Amino acid sequence: MIFYFSATGNCLDVAKRLASSLDEKLYDVAALNKKGEYSFEKSHGESVGLIIPVYYGGIPLPLSEFLRKFSCGTDLPYVYAVFTYGGSIGGADYRLKKLLDDVNIPLHAVFGLKYPDNFLPLFNPENEGTCKKIIASAHSETEKIVEKIISRQHTSLLSSIAGRIYSFFSYPFYLRGRKTSPFYATDACLNCGLCQKICPENAISLASGKPRWTKDKCALCLGCINRCPVKAIQYGKVTEKRRRYVNPILLNKED
Ligand SMILES: Cc1cc2nc3c(=O)[nH]c(=O)nc-3n(C[C@H](O)[C@H](O)[C@H](O)COP(=O)(O)O)c2cc1C
Ligand code: SF4
Ligand code: SF4
Repeated sequence: MIFYFSATGNCLDVAKRLASSLDEKLYDVAALNKKGEYSFEKSHGESVGLIIPVYYGGIPLPLSEFLRKFSCGTDLPYVYAVFTYGGSIGGADYRLKKLLDDVNIPLHAVFGLKYPDNFLPLFNPENEGTCKKIIASAHSETEKIVEKIISRQHTSLLSSIAGRIYSFFSYPFYLRGRKTSPFYATDACLNCGLCQKICPENAISLASGKPRWTKDKCALCLGCINRCPVKAIQYGKVTEKRRRYVNPILLNKED
């Protein structure tokens, strides 16, 4: 069984490739959180995979919340995580390991894949050609990861001491920040409802025609701003001139 959290499609891309190569069932953590579904029946000896985007050198809050309630029995012979990130894994695997230790779940292997960065408030996403190259390289790396998962290879954590130090300082900004106040929608909004539908935190209302952010804090997954089909969503002033990033898997534009 494979669990993934994905806002702009990178982790979905990995999860689908693994599920198809390993013939395993896929679960969307955002949907499971909304349904309050945390208990799973696993067949004997089956592995558990977690596909996770790196946030501030750590892991997305909806995924931590899910894992704190998750159960699938005590027969856990192989648990692995695959992280996707734009720059580096930071201390995300270290944080995941600590969380899993707290809930008595082992972690046998960790893999990392560089994908296009979706963190729009800080970076202008790469152009389409560069994204294509990064994704093509991630796809060939994924094939190697599949082989390692099939042979149930154990690994050490990937994070360096520097990555863990970065995470130590940056992750608290994520936990304390995550403010929705900088989000707004322009008149370009078509009222299509996509942003509201995909928000993992139910933080968006379309009652007044255009989106309104109804919670003070959210997961800051940036799905709404990146995936709006007409770039109607902004985060402060800085995103006005920036590109948006969506993995082709969400646009049915895969090669
Ligand atoms: C809130 C936030 C924080 C992020 N922080 C990092 C980071 O610390 N390091 C990094 O390499 N990428 C970071 N990223 C980029 C994502 O990890 C990367 O684009 C990931 O592949 C997105 O996965 P998704 O398309 O499945 O949502 C961040 C993205 C978001 C939204
Ligand atoms: S996704 Fe964009 S166009 Fe659609 S409702 Fe949201 S802001 Fe409006
Ligand atoms: S409001 Fe936007 S950034 Fe925040 S959790 Fe919802 S979709 Fe993600």
